[in-house]
Amino acid sequence: MRVARPRHYLMCRPEHFDVTYSINPWMRPEKPTDAAIAVLQWERLRSLFLGLGHRVELIDPLPGLPDMVFAANGATVVDGRVLSASFRHAERVPEGPAYLAWFRERGFPCHEAEFVNEGEGDYLVVGRRVLAGNGFRTDPRSHAEAASWFGREVVPLELVDPRYYHLDTALAALSDDEVAYYPDAFSASSRAVLRELYPDAVLADDHDAEVFGLNAVSDGKHVVLAQEALGLHRALAERGFTPIGVDLSELLKAGGSAKCCTLELRGTSGGAR
Ligand code: ARG
Repeated sequence: MRVARPRHYLMCRPEHFDVTYSINPWMRPEKPTDAAIAVLQWERLRSLFLGLGHRVELIDPLPGLPDMVFAANGATVVDGRVLSASFRHAERVPEGPAYLAWFRERGFPCHEAEFVNEGEGDYLVVGRRVLAGNGFRTDPRSHAEAASWFGREVVPLELVDPRYYHLDTALAALSDDEVAYYPDAFSASSRAVLRELYPDAVLADDHDAEVFGLNAVSDGKHVVLAQEALGLHRALAERGFTPIGVDLSELLKAGGSAKCCTLELRGTSGGAR
């Protein structure tokens, strides 16, 4: 039987959501967006987490930072220790200090990143291990910085398909030792690493990857993911997880889904209610 562990999350309401620039292939500034719909879809995601017994903290959204809703990119938190984010693209650079200030004000031990890294977009914690994406955003030199600040093993994984520019668009942490991923998003050598570490992983097909099904949030039992990723829903249910579909179509226009909106505050006492 799968057992859920109560989680502690940080989220940012998409009040200023928009697609005004393009830094990934999903972003089309010429296509209309609707911040009110984004807020509605995001509110449902937040209520879902609360209903599952998780705690959700909020950071104030700042005008002029339309991607700030993607809290997963704001930092990485392991054992209550924060590695700040340092963004690749100028449009998102101010988000790093904004998130860092939130953590500092609350007394978290923080390390200000020396190298570019986009938080949990590229750092995914699977049990004791930290999987680390690179290729598009996070500078591979950040991996050693994260390993020494967190005192954890960091496994580098190289992303090769620009549609899957962050690790959390191509791989989902399901439990302390299980993942789901889209093999074609990784270089041949990283695919070999993943096969070796997770021989029984759930493999996503093209469709489920394209609808951002891997951008999923698991509490060890419930897996919250795009409702359109039907193959993944089936595969997760077969393994005893409870998949829960969400509609985040508006946020998908910026190249994000459930996990992108959710930063896990690991190792804070706030896990249990
Ligand atoms: N528009 C944002 C970007 O390209 C989307 C970030 C999605 N977040 C994530 N964790 N994958 O940076």
